[in-house]
Amino acid sequence: MDKGLSPSMFIGVRGNGIISFGSGQPDLPPPKEVLSCVPEPEDFKYGLVAGQVYLRKALSKEFKGSASDDFVITNGASEALDLTLRAIGKPKDKILIHKPYYYSYKPLIELNHMEPLYVETYKGKIDTDDFEKKVHKAKAVLINSPSNPTGRIQDIKTLKFIEKVTDDLDIPLLSDEVYKDLIYERENYMLSGPHVVTINSFSKTFDMCGARVGYLYSNDKPIVNEAVRLKTYTSMNTNILAQRMAYHATKVPRAFVDGQVKVWKQRRDLIYEGMCRLGLDVWKPEGAFYILPKIKNPRKFVWGMFKKHKVITYLGEWFGADDRVRFSYALDVEKIEEGLKRVGKYLKKN
Ligand SMILES: Cc1ncc(COP(=O)(O)O)c(C=O)c1O
Repeated sequence: MDKGLSPSMFIGVRGNGIISFGSGQPDLPPPKEVLSCVPEPEDFKYGLVAGQVYLRKALSKEFKGSASDDFVITNGASEALDLTLRAIGKPKDKILIHKPYYYSYKPLIELNHMEPLYVETYKGKIDTDDFEKKVHKAKAVLINSPSNPTGRIQDIKTLKFIEKVTDDLDIPLLSDEVYKDLIYERENYMLSGPHVVTINSFSKTFDMCGARVGYLYSNDKPIVNEAVRLKTYTSMNTNILAQRMAYHATKVPRAFVDGQVKVWKQRRDLIYEGMCRLGLDVWKPEGAFYILPKIKNPRKFVWGMFKKHKVITYLGEWFGADDRVRFSYALDVEKIEEGLKRVGKYLKKN
């Protein structure tokens, strides 16, 4: 009956009393500076493949030691990930990712005819011994901290260790930093080095998922040049009006982001404490807006919650976590409370 379970059957589904803990899309509005951006005739012309200069210059001010030519503006972090993988690898190369992983990683690597190689984690934290054992087989490493789907951050010691090992091996280190601004426990530690490719997005920090603006940044010139070459023959420029919106987002006072983090943290506390009360085995999220409880028979749960209780959740197996279910808490407090009540009802009966 639940054979059709896939993320696409839930993405964008709303209304009719449904509570969606599904899609990782902030429910908060983007900054007013972004909303006041109106189209101009120039926005309808083709733009530079690498991205508009004003946006790349604005970004280069955020990254010490960077120049505007080190950036490629992309259709979200999604395109930045795809271009980077294609730029660095060839068929059969292995890309080391930590498990559980963002659900696009495995298909993206495979679509590019490469193979994922998994490093184990304990409560979402990378097992550095396992990392050291496997990294020698990898063409590149992909790190995501804070993580989707665990909400966990990697210890700074671990991140420095990964920087050093990949630097010694001279292999690309891809750092998916789309949640870098949404951390509750400490400042972000941004991975850096000669072969680090930082992948980021305006989707999550500025609530601009549908605008589709992201970027990659690297001091590794051949990677950046190859990404631009590939983009020339695929999507060409990223939407110009959306790039202007993103430019305005770079000028938004830090207080905007701090305000968002306050909201996410309040919701994190609510859902984490609620799940603990329900007796669920769960790791405390330290960033992003996801939580990944262990659930008996996850398929039955996801299907039953949807069909009988009108609650959308995502199967852990899409993220490489077979015995878990992912909840996004990017929704308001009343909905989180109601959703938890319905989960409680389900758990009592099953
Ligand atoms: C870890 C991670 N990377 C990349 C993306 C893609 O983001 P974008 O909207 O910028 O394409 C997401 C979206 O959920 C994500 O969670």
